[in-house]
Order: sequence, then C-alpha cells, then structure tokens
Amino acid sequence: MNYTETTLPTVAEPASAPARKRLINSSQVDVNQLMPLQYHWAWEHYVNGCANHWMPTEVSMGADIALWGSNGLTDAERLVILRNLGFFSTAESLVGNNLVLAIFKHITNAECRQYLLRQAFEEAVHTHTFLYIVDSLGLSEREVFNMYREVPAISRKDEFEMALTADVLDPNFSTETFEGGQKFLENLIGYYLIMEGIFFYTGFVMILSFHRQNRMTGIGEQFQYILRDETTHLNFGIDLINGIKQENPHLWTPEFQARILDLVDQAVSLEIAYAWDCLPEGILGLNGDLFQEYVRHIADRRLERIGLPAQYGASNPFPWMSETMDLGKEKNFFETRVTEYQSAAGLTWD
Ligand SMILES: [Fe+2]
Ligand SMILES: [Fe+2]
Repeated sequence: MNYTETTLPTVAEPASAPARKRLINSSQVDVNQLMPLQYHWAWEHYVNGCANHWMPTEVSMGADIALWGSNGLTDAERLVILRNLGFFSTAESLVGNNLVLAIFKHITNAECRQYLLRQAFEEAVHTHTFLYIVDSLGLSEREVFNMYREVPAISRKDEFEMALTADVLDPNFSTETFEGGQKFLENLIGYYLIMEGIFFYTGFVMILSFHRQNRMTGIGEQFQYILRDETTHLNFGIDLINGIKQENPHLWTPEFQARILDLVDQAVSLEIAYAWDCLPEGILGLNGDLFQEYVRHIADRRLERIGLPAQYGASNPFPWMSETMDLGKEKNFFETRVTEYQSAAGLTWD
C-alpha cells in the first residue's frame, strides 16, 4: 500500500472539505488533517483535559498510610476501600483498551481522535494512581489487581463491558453496516454512559465520603481528580454519541432505543449489587438502599442526555455529589491546583 497516495490529501482538496467530515464512515476526509475544525466540542474537551493535567505522585499519601496502619478504620470501612481499589484498578485498563483497540480506528475524524489520545493517556494516569495507592499502603498488588476475576460483583460489571469490546474487535466488524453502526453506538453507550457514567459513581461516592470526614484524604484527593477527568470523558462521550445519532438517524430505531434501555437497566442492577457487596453493613451514613436510589437517579440523568426517557424517577440521596458532577464544573473544580500546575509548566530554555 502506498501511504502517500492512500492517506494524504491531494493538493486540490477543496476549502469546503470540513463540511464533509463525519464522525464515522468517512472515507472522504483525511484523518491526519486536524484543521480546520468541524467538531469544536471535541477540541474543547481536549483543551479541558489538558488544562486539568495531574499525576498521582503529586499527592501526599502520608495521612492515608498512617490511618491505614492504625486502628482508625473498621473492617467494614477497609472492605469498602479495598473493593473500590480493586474495581477501579482494572476498570481503568478496560476503558483504555476499549478506546485504543476498539473505538479509535472507527472514529474517522481528526479532532475526535485528538481527544481520544488525550483520554487514553488520562486512563493510563488513572491506572497508575491505583498502583501508587496500592504501593503506598503496602497492599497486595495481586489481590487488588485480581479482584476483577475473583470478586463476582466486580467481574460481572467487567464481563458486561468486555462483551461490548469483543463485539467491535470481531474481525468482521464494520460500522458501515446497519448492525455494525448500532453495535458501535452500543459500545460507546456501554463505556461512556455506563462504565464511566454509572459504574464509576458508586465508588466515587464511597471514597469521597471518607474524604468528607477528613479521612483517607490522599485517596480522596486522587478520586476528586479522577472524577473531574471522568466528567470530561462522559461529556465528550455524550457529544460523540449524539453527533453519531444526528449524522446516522437510521441507526436510532425504536428497537435500538429499547435495547439501550434494557442495557442500562442491566447495568443499574449490576451496580446496585456492587454497592451491596461493598457495603453489606452501613458505614459513614451509607447503605445499599441509598445506593439503589442513587444509581437509579444517575441512570435517569445519563439517559436524558442521549435523548432517552428517564426510567426510574429516583431522587438523589447524595446532593453533595451533584455539585461536582451534574453542574459541569470541570473547568473550575480544582481551579487553584490547575492554575498552579499550568504556571509551573511554563518552562524556559536558556
Ligand atoms: Fe479513568
Ligand atoms: Fe475515563
């Protein structure tokens, strides 16, 4: 194959080329040519992600190490922390692999690919975070990183996601068929809306509940950064899903919408079971009943954002979370720190 002939634009490419950009199934436009932009939202999410750069090793773990090594945590509290470390440590890799191996090549648009590259790096940072926590607290790497195989409440969530990745990795998969286009949307919804938008949020509430009590504050701070990143991932995913819907309205059939509602309903059940598994007894004012309400509440919010009707009518038992996730505060969530980071990044070369 001649690279130059097949992938670079001809000199005669008209100035109106951006109008022909499409999110999927575009063989017309060169995916190596970023400018001029057509999907400005993709570039804005990319810039937001870069403005929020952080590394787990910037966060001091001293207080967490002292508390973990003391009698200051009950067995039930330790279980909640360990389960969430176990879930997230592998879930971050599943998301990263789905991005790179399944999603990336089918997105035929340069500005969205630019965002996906940034997101993939952030998922690597998140995986790094869990290794850093495990090392800092002297936990068993084998135990934490194997929970996705050994703890049924975690493996069921991961198997649900991995099946969606496998569909797209099938060598015969193509987004150009009707079924393939729907499968691809299902993957995007399964990862952006369900994994990053539902499966992560029970863990966010649990870990940030410790942080609100000024306990395990290093992990809490890292989870705040991850929550901020995931808010951007979710917002990009919703824009991408809605963009593909708009460009390919034939995919969004009543049958397909029913399939998505069923998929989200399965996910809600898995997440409620996960919450009960983490919290067989209540701690920190949290219990399985509250999480049932919460998971249903956020599932409704996610459905509405892709134009599907709310299903559960549940209220939000953790209104303090909505301040950080529903109001789109990702730009100023940790303004002070971000500003410090950005100014520190201004290197000079003498
Ligand atoms: Fe992540
Ligand atoms: Fe993510």
